[in-house]
Amino acid sequence: TSPSSIELSGRTYKTDEWFNVPSNVANATSRKLHLQKDHPIAITRQIIESKFPEATYKTYNTFDPVVSTFENFDSLGFPEDHPGRAKSDTYYINKETLLRTHTSAHELEIFKANASDGYLISADVYRRDEVDRTHYPVFHQMEGARVWDRTKVPNGDIAAAVWADLDKLPKHDIQVEDPNPPFHPERNPLQSEHHSPAEAEAIAAHLKRSLELVVVEIFSRAKAAAVKADPNFVDEPLKVRWVEAYFPFTSPSWELEVYYNGDWLECLGCGVSKQNILINAGVGSQAGWAFGLGLDRIAMLLFQIPDIRLFWSQDERFLSQFAGVSGDLGRLKRFVPFSKYPACYKDVSFWLRTSSAAGGNTRGANVHDFHENDVMEVVRSVAGDVVEDVRLVDEFTHPRTGRRSMCYRINYRSLERTLTNDETNGLHDEITKALVERLGVEIR
Ligand code: PHE
Repeated sequence: TSPSSIELSGRTYKTDEWFNVPSNVANATSRKLHLQKDHPIAITRQIIESKFPEATYKTYNTFDPVVSTFENFDSLGFPEDHPGRAKSDTYYINKETLLRTHTSAHELEIFKANASDGYLISADVYRRDEVDRTHYPVFHQMEGARVWDRTKVPNGDIAAAVWADLDKLPKHDIQVEDPNPPFHPERNPLQSEHHSPAEAEAIAAHLKRSLELVVVEIFSRAKAAAVKADPNFVDEPLKVRWVEAYFPFTSPSWELEVYYNGDWLECLGCGVSKQNILINAGVGSQAGWAFGLGLDRIAMLLFQIPDIRLFWSQDERFLSQFAGVSGDLGRLKRFVPFSKYPACYKDVSFWLRTSSAAGGNTRGANVHDFHENDVMEVVRSVAGDVVEDVRLVDEFTHPRTGRRSMCYRINYRSLERTLTNDETNGLHDEITKALVERLGVEIR
């Protein structure tokens, strides 16, 4: 049973049958880690902001996390049936109101305000997701955009104006792979009604250089921190690559990946802004780019923070390690893990609830209204941050009845203390009970 209204950042919202925000997530809306002095998320934000000149890029860091479905989805051209809109992926307050899933929810309103040639928005964002050391239902994004106005550039020549601005950006010497053609007819078309190929290519080049400079900055600071921790530290030369991507609100679109520790890490999404958004914002004479990046993952890499839950810790052994860094980025050091407390895992196996489809022609074909994120949410809402990860270890469909069963392994470990046996047993029992009550499963 859900409350009929909820108060979030001082405002009261009516809830309805769409409401699915657990209290641990609702409480996180007041934390604002990206604004907390000397917090690694805030430090990471500051470092990235420093690569975008204030005279061009206006920063917005205090937008409210509660937005409308129009702002989060419709205004950006998300189709009606986009999976991101599902209750299994997104926290809804009511049918029309949700916790933003990305900072892009504010694009239209900022383009409308037309207050600057560029902007940066940093904010907390919310997504229902799995439980492990790199996922948390609340994380932080920075969105950036840059536009040029046809009516204001010399001779109305956007391409020339963009190349001139690109010329003023610093250069770097890292290796960049960019193997794909600039446009792909279906996946990544030129917005040919609005841009010439030359304009879109210039905008893309400015976008790519601007973001490569961010990566260079982050990784040179990460390297300096590594050398401080170990003077003999040697790393491989930095390598980045641009990979084609898809977003409903940019075309063409890319993701930027960085080669790090033997893996390609996805750092951000970006592209040439869809002209419809600018037209709807009343600034159709402008054209430009936008990007969105995840601050938490970058902060983990920068400080070598091994578990995303640490960001939410109020433990001085965590927070004190970053003291003074907001005011002097040169003091940035790697995080030194405090002792790792023992882990303890427990399995839970259950049959999914079935609602056999109507009609006689579906023998054996049971319909399971099950989403894994619901299990994750039950675990988080009962045990909070003492669960390190939840993994599916077995899945089985009965050959005759068609019933499906799942076995999840829950790994209990506090970052701050040793859990007692009684405590883990108690939590596991409570989780088991909650799975039955809330998801209608049958324990095996
Ligand atoms: N909002 C996108 C995401 O969360 C990232 C993005 C922002 C992509 C701006 C393109 C332009 O994945």
